[in-house]
Amino acid sequence: METKTLGEIRAICEQCTKCELCKTRTNVVFGTGNENATLMFIGEAPGQKEDESGIPFVGAAGKLLNKYLDAVGISRDEVYIANILKCRPPNNRDPKPEEEDLCIGYLREQVLAIRPKVIVCLGRISAMRIIKPDFKITAEHGKWFDKGGFSVCAVYHPAALLRDPRKKDEMLADMIAIKERLDGIS
Ligand code: URA
Repeated sequence: METKTLGEIRAICEQCTKCELCKTRTNVVFGTGNENATLMFIGEAPGQKEDESGIPFVGAAGKLLNKYLDAVGISRDEVYIANILKCRPPNNRDPKPEEEDLCIGYLREQVLAIRPKVIVCLGRISAMRIIKPDFKITAEHGKWFDKGGFSVCAVYHPAALLRDPRKKDEMLADMIAIKERLDGIS
């Protein structure tokens, strides 16, 4: 597959009408951050604030993600953040498998354009799509997988931490391990 630039992929996404979500979106939420990032985060799908702004992880979950990045000394400017779906599912329902199937090619192209060394899936839905269909977030968060030469792991989705703060210590431990892995690379 010929590698497109992020600008080219974004332009295509912004015109996308492959699924019904194009009818209800305010903005396509393509992705944001450093185009040469070593670390890329992949979330699930935009929520209301992301749909309104066109930027991933700007709502409550995003603010919590920012706190973890700060806590371990990773700057949000140095990473790239995108989602499996580029458009908001109504009422924040889970993405449908057919929506993921139609949208995932854009993410694949983003990964090829950025070529991060480390990919971190935010939550179960992202991990089941990127790592393996039977991924179990409670048992396997923080575990490293090799996916086509990329080092990939999953952490709890920040929205899950807002619902269940008892997971916060595990999240911090995972984020520290991610920072150590990055430091080991660069
Ligand atoms: N949750 C996600 O998975 N992605 C966002 O962009 C915002 C919230």
